[in-house]
Amino acid sequence: MASHPLFHRRTPRSQAPRAGLRIALGALLLVPSAFAQLPGQPSPGAGKVIFQQHCALCHGLNGGGGRGPDLRRATLDRAPDDAALKSLIQLGIPPDMPDGWYLSPDDIANLAAFVRSLGAVPKETLPGNPARGELLYRRGGCSGCHILAGQGSGFGPELTGIGVKRGAARLRQTLLHPAETLPDGFLFVEAVPSDGRAVRGIRLNEDSFTIQLKDAQNKIYSFRKSDLRALNKLPHQTPMPSFAAVFSPAELDDLVAFLASRTGRP
Ligand code: HEC
Ligand code: HEC
Repeated sequence: MASHPLFHRRTPRSQAPRAGLRIALGALLLVPSAFAQLPGQPSPGAGKVIFQQHCALCHGLNGGGGRGPDLRRATLDRAPDDAALKSLIQLGIPPDMPDGWYLSPDDIANLAAFVRSLGAVPKETLPGNPARGELLYRRGGCSGCHILAGQGSGFGPELTGIGVKRGAARLRQTLLHPAETLPDGFLFVEAVPSDGRAVRGIRLNEDSFTIQLKDAQNKIYSFRKSDLRALNKLPHQTPMPSFAAVFSPAELDDLVAFLASRTGRP
């Protein structure tokens, strides 16, 4: 059969490219697994175990986000390369993300490898429509308390890059139950001076002797604690209203999609 002239002519042409393809595929499949077996090479599998223990609380079991952002992105804003990613994991992001003092250099390398592997997982598509959400943002009076891309006033936290800071489920929870999702370090306080009216505001700074607040008009106050009749910390309270009764579930989807699209990038 192989001696048939037709086969002689066809074989080299049709098989050569296929053999080449097989070698290329083999190389693709072999190279990464060979690396994973080298001692000292970071292992995403080992990273995943540490991630689920220490990071999932904020980033979700599969990295899909929550109190922290969705990490299933090919590029991370705060970690453009692996060195930046490792140092971010080691140092944390004060005050929102704790540092990794308990992690060994190997743990950090494995975590970084796992976080990078998440970049290959498709990002969840949100149900809402960001353009409609932007109209709701205006209608909801959000800019009375938040700055977004230079617009609004700054009593509440700035929302310019909120889409890289929080996951969608968490954003929705904030809109429904803002007191349940207070950002780290956030404290609402009431200061009652011995000779004046009570001031309610967000704590900016505090030490043993003084406290600084910002009220809803963005006015900043500084009090000496010895001048105060009372200083009431109001934990679990926030001036942000719940929007549960304001927006329908579909409108909330739109608003969440709009907020999630605010990455701080033009
Ligand atoms: C207490 C909550 C919390 C924990 C625990 C936490 N993070 Fe975060 N993480 C955050 C928040 C919030 C941000 C966004 C902060 C910001 O952008 O201001 C963040 C940001 C990040 C980013 C940057 C994302 C980007 O787009 O640039 C990476 C990467 C990251 N976290 C990885 C981890 C890893 C790995 C761990 C576990 C070792 C971890 N985080 C533990 C809350 C947390
Ligand atoms: C009366 C002022 C006020 C209004 C109006 C208001 N907010 Fe807020 N918002 C705050 C304050 C203060 C916080 C921080 C404490 C908290 O989370 O409740 C906050 C927190 C948030 C957060 C969480 C930020 C973070 O870092 O996790 C988001 C998201 C948010 N607001 C979105 C909105 C949107 C969208 C609207 C309009 C529909 C809105 N806010 C209306 C005051 C306000």
